[in-house]
Amino acid sequence: MIGLIAGKGERGMEGLIRAGVGLMLALAFSLPLTAEEFTPDASRGEKTFQTICAHCHNITYDESRVGSPGLKGVLERHDEKWLHQWLKGPEAFAKVDETAATLIESNKYKIKMPTFPQMQDDQHRADMIEYLKTLKGD
Ligand code: HEC
Repeated sequence: MIGLIAGKGERGMEGLIRAGVGLMLALAFSLPLTAEEFTPDASRGEKTFQTICAHCHNITYDESRVGSPGLKGVLERHDEKWLHQWLKGPEAFAKVDETAATLIESNKYKIKMPTFPQMQDDQHRADMIEYLKTLKGD
């Protein structure tokens, strides 16, 4: 709209501003994100859960019935820091954490939780944990 009304010179200026804004956005997105710089989003976590977790985990109970633990009230069993490390790589974490090792060893069904490429991303893990927080126990 503005481009149509304004003369040639101003259109050039607008282009320059647009390029500047584009560059700023590109820079902003290329910077590494830290925990403080993004807001965890439970609904994004839920979508990922439905895609890569729900075929093993139930969310309506808290005990292991079909091989994988039900995740209801899981934040009452583990804190966020533990969950971050577990989700990043269950087997690697079990080498340094007793709770994780016991969890794997005690699984009589011999199903193992895989290490997911999707869970290597800090934002995706934070979104997932935000979703897990909504699965409150009784
Ligand atoms: C192939 C089946 C499978 C998939 C897929 C899977 N898990 Fe697991 N998960 C397990 C099993 C089995 C355990 C119990 C530990 C073990 O034996 O490895 C577990 C344990 C857990 C625990 C600890 C539960 C507790 O009560 O202590 C959490 C949290 C968890 N999984 C979250 C997830 C999330 C989030 C995803 C998706 C990113 C996921 N899991 C995908 C099988 C799976």
